[in-house]
Amino acid sequence: MLPLIVDTDTGSDDAVALLLAAASGLGDVRAVTTVAGNVPLATATRNALISLQTAGRPDVPVHEGCESPMTRALSTAQHVHGQDGMGDLDLPDPLGAAEREHAVDVLLAAPRRLPGELTLVTLGPLTNLAAALLRDRDLLRRYRHVYCMAGAADLWGNVSATAEFNVWVDPEAARVVLQAATPDQVTWIGWDVSRRDAVMTPADQLRLERIGTPMATFAHRVNRTVAEWARDVTGLSGYDLPDPVAMAVALRPELAVERERAYVDVALGDEARGQLIIDRRRSAPAPNLTLVRRVDETAFKQLLFDTCEGPR
Ligand code: RIB
Ligand code: CA
Repeated sequence: MLPLIVDTDTGSDDAVALLLAAASGLGDVRAVTTVAGNVPLATATRNALISLQTAGRPDVPVHEGCESPMTRALSTAQHVHGQDGMGDLDLPDPLGAAEREHAVDVLLAAPRRLPGELTLVTLGPLTNLAAALLRDRDLLRRYRHVYCMAGAADLWGNVSATAEFNVWVDPEAARVVLQAATPDQVTWIGWDVSRRDAVMTPADQLRLERIGTPMATFAHRVNRTVAEWARDVTGLSGYDLPDPVAMAVALRPELAVERERAYVDVALGDEARGQLIIDRRRSAPAPNLTLVRRVDETAFKQLLFDTCEGPR
């Protein structure tokens, strides 16, 4: 099992990613850190606690992180995920609560205790990771690997014409990570992957619902408002699962069937805020990221269905 730390802004797709991390049998979740993004920080924390409880892992420590982006006001995605980020189902309060230690302190201390052993998976804006990097420029190499659900390598955006939400919310934080990243240490799985290889069609949604276990029912129901947004805004054939497909790649890297190494920066200006600037010229600086471009959709969805069926 892969020792993991998960950084999340716990919306409905993050919740499904946490099920994969905690209940697939592939991940050993050592801690979850929360960040403001889809929903305000306190809501992200509540949702993380609920998701871990649903996965049968209420023991996993949850640590609260940054409550706003580095320099900008927080823009949430509650219009996508619901006011509570989880489909507005009036889910009961979680049994547990967050720990006292701050998320950024955990992101800094954990890999010093276990150098090279921990995999970090970020599922929200990169504010926590950037804050940690400003205190330890060598942080990324202390992890075994860092996977980020971030960006849109094909410039087909979801929050704007060309930007993906996590990078758009806090583009300054994304730049801090990009300036410290190397392609051997950091892999980004962008919204282009989710849009093409992780869309839950009506048939997939019915299959998930019919599994009927508590995790399957939870995964299906919390995504109900995203399904409406997909129908009305993105025009996809169902809701997509950006965070779960990123988590699946972290747990099973062989699911990534197409990758590229490139030099990536991010636009900060208003019109192109959060857009990736990918320099593929021969004269480009040395690559700083590995970008996953395609994932084995069938294998990803099978992992999701198997996980939601629960222990055999
Ligand atoms: O653009 C998709 C990303 O933004 C996902 O992480 C989703 O949860 C939202 O945070
Ligand atoms: Ca997220």
